Amino acid sequence: MHINKVSFQNFRNFGRLELKFNPGFIVLAGPNGMGKTNFLEGLYWGAVLRRFPGTKLGQLMRDNELFYKINLQFHSKDEEILEIVSEREGEKYSAQGRPASGWKFTYRYNNLAVPRAKFAGHLPVISFLPEDLNLLGHSPAGRRRYLNETLSTTSAEYRRNLSEYEKTLKQRNELLQNLESESNSGQDEIWNERLAEYGSLIIAERQKFLEFVKERFEAATTALSPELTGSMIDYRFSGSPDRQGFLAEISGLGAREKEAHGTLIGPHKDDFRLSWLDREVIGYVSRGQLRSYTLALKILEREYIKDKLSAQPVMLLDDVFSEFDEAHQRALIDFLQTFDQVFLTTAHLKEVQPFLPVNSQVYNVNDGTIIPSPFPHFPPLEGEGLREG
Ligand SMILES: Nc1ncnc2c1ncn2[C@@H]1O[C@H](COP(=O)(O)OP(=O)(O)OP(=O)(O)O)[C@@H](O)[C@H]1O
Ligand SMILES: [Mg+2]
Repeated sequence: MHINKVSFQNFRNFGRLELKFNPGFIVLAGPNGMGKTNFLEGLYWGAVLRRFPGTKLGQLMRDNELFYKINLQFHSKDEEILEIVSEREGEKYSAQGRPASGWKFTYRYNNLAVPRAKFAGHLPVISFLPEDLNLLGHSPAGRRRYLNETLSTTSAEYRRNLSEYEKTLKQRNELLQNLESESNSGQDEIWNERLAEYGSLIIAERQKFLEFVKERFEAATTALSPELTGSMIDYRFSGSPDRQGFLAEISGLGAREKEAHGTLIGPHKDDFRLSWLDREVIGYVSRGQLRSYTLALKILEREYIKDKLSAQPVMLLDDVFSEFDEAHQRALIDFLQTFDQVFLTTAHLKEVQPFLPVNSQVYNVNDGTIIPSPFPHFPPLEGEGLREG
């Protein structure tokens, strides 16, 4: 699968952008702050309606504009088109007098308006971001993002369950925040039922995925760093994959949750743990070894997606190349070559260049513009000088 045309209007720091691409490696090079990550985020948001970590909905539209549009044409079995148009909802103001953060979205698939739920899922993508390099850091949020990215790509049902779960959790937490610890709103059971319904389905899907990873984890890791033999991954789920079991657990927490004013169990508290010869990996192995684990997880994410969908995802790789040593840079390139199409950003083209396939398409990103490099395939190597014609 590959993207063959990208149009942005007022997305981030891009005014109007229209580019055509071939399959293979697309390298977006340029100094810091020019729009490389923004471009990848536009592809990610435009394909799967998920944002990069830490960004807010209100930041996606170009400053001082009234709408933005992303249009992606891609080749799956046939040519297909996805389009999002987003506008800030007009004259709405919140009770505090600040503009309400209301956004109106129109989604189109092959030029027909579709509901949000029918939009994502046509164009599977995998991202590999600088934030993923901290996937194995101390905060579990990145690890849950890894699970959600993979499973949202493979299953429309997972996407729906996750979205329902998040809505339920938010409303349930609001209720718990406004409750006295001894009171009973009479709504507890309804919320517990909903939480158990979606929560158990999410955990069951995550469990299946992590079983797949577990079986292949040691082989994937030692292929990258042979010394890491004896590596294991374990899912630490919070709540049960069984609906009745989840319901019993959440109901049993009653007073404790009212005291804590929040939901104490569920997929929003899940985590997984890596160990090497029974030692906890985080805080023990080197940064480079953590990179190997992260790359192994990305490779397994791809394998799972390939296993579940008959389609090949598009890879978006944001400036992580220079974080690996030379041997792992080669392993990363080998992995990337298994995709039909890879978008790769770098602020250090010279460093990346020797590793890239010769027919890579190189673009220069400069302050919201993206233009093909004046050299058809590659800029000259140091000392090579300008090539004719
Ligand atoms: N909504 C927006 N409207 C206009 N400009 C924006 C908006 N959001 C971000 N920007 C601009 O985009 C720039 C950041 O772009 P981006 O993160 O893509 O840079 P980059 O090329 O990836 O840089 P680096 O190499 O440092 O990662 C910021 O400097 C900011 O000025
Ligand atoms: Mg960037």
